Amino acid sequence: MSADDKYPESTGRRRFVKGVVGSAALAGVGTATAVGIDSATGPTGGGGGIVDFYGVENTAGPAPRAMPQIPLEVDSEGYLKGIWPEPETITLENGSEITVAEMELGGTTYSSTWYQYCGVQTNAGVRPDADQDNYFRYIGNSKYDWQNSEMEEGAKIHVDDFSDYETWGNGIGDDGLGKPAQAKWRSEDVSSSEILPVQVIRSTRVEEMAQDNEWLSASTEEGFIANLNKCTHFCCVPTFKGLAGSASAEAENQIYCQCHQSAYDPFSIVQKSFAALPIPEDS
Ligand code: FES
Repeated sequence: MSADDKYPESTGRRRFVKGVVGSAALAGVGTATAVGIDSATGPTGGGGGIVDFYGVENTAGPAPRAMPQIPLEVDSEGYLKGIWPEPETITLENGSEITVAEMELGGTTYSSTWYQYCGVQTNAGVRPDADQDNYFRYIGNSKYDWQNSEMEEGAKIHVDDFSDYETWGNGIGDDGLGKPAQAKWRSEDVSSSEILPVQVIRSTRVEEMAQDNEWLSASTEEGFIANLNKCTHFCCVPTFKGLAGSASAEAENQIYCQCHQSAYDPFSIVQKSFAALPIPEDS
């Protein structure tokens, strides 16, 4: 799918909105809390409040919900980039302006608020209008030997790096389930504490899942799937096939969080809702 198919056309990007901002933040939730509405209508917005999102299902452990999926695309040169809605300025009924990033994608409303939890809402890259190019880039010292030995830290992830994805294995769990990488996103020129960690996997399972599935066919490409890799329990960074010890929790074929043994299934994408935290005004 080309970028043109996936990105909304650029317009003046300014609209007038009655009532609260963030249709995504409040869609389908008739009992949106006062906190959600208040935060969503703050001067810098940030779209806090109840939001529906797609994520990798949590299957074990104390994690309260899925980790948010990052919809992605492959550019014309074969590099992977996360999809980020074009920011737009909204004028509220009271005259104040806020900037939001949301779009219709794969039959759902996709919004930057999906990532506003675990302190990530204070990270520079989560601001709707952050000046970032959205490419996934390799981190250094990853949990994967192949990545550490073959890829340079900071290099953009390319489809060809995963050409052996149908058979890849590292002795943890089943071979051939998918080839993973640890990446960062929207994190150029930010402090190390503000890096957005991403789990990337290329798998034939993803290709199969995307067939006849509107959301997954729009949010994955060539078997690649990605999620913001912050455990929804206490915000550790888990890994898919990154720890031999995951077998003791029967999570060797899942994304496993070593902090308190939560597991997530990257091949089970679920739609959930949560209370996104607002972006602080001074971040
Ligand atoms: S299970 Fe506690 S932080 Fe992941």
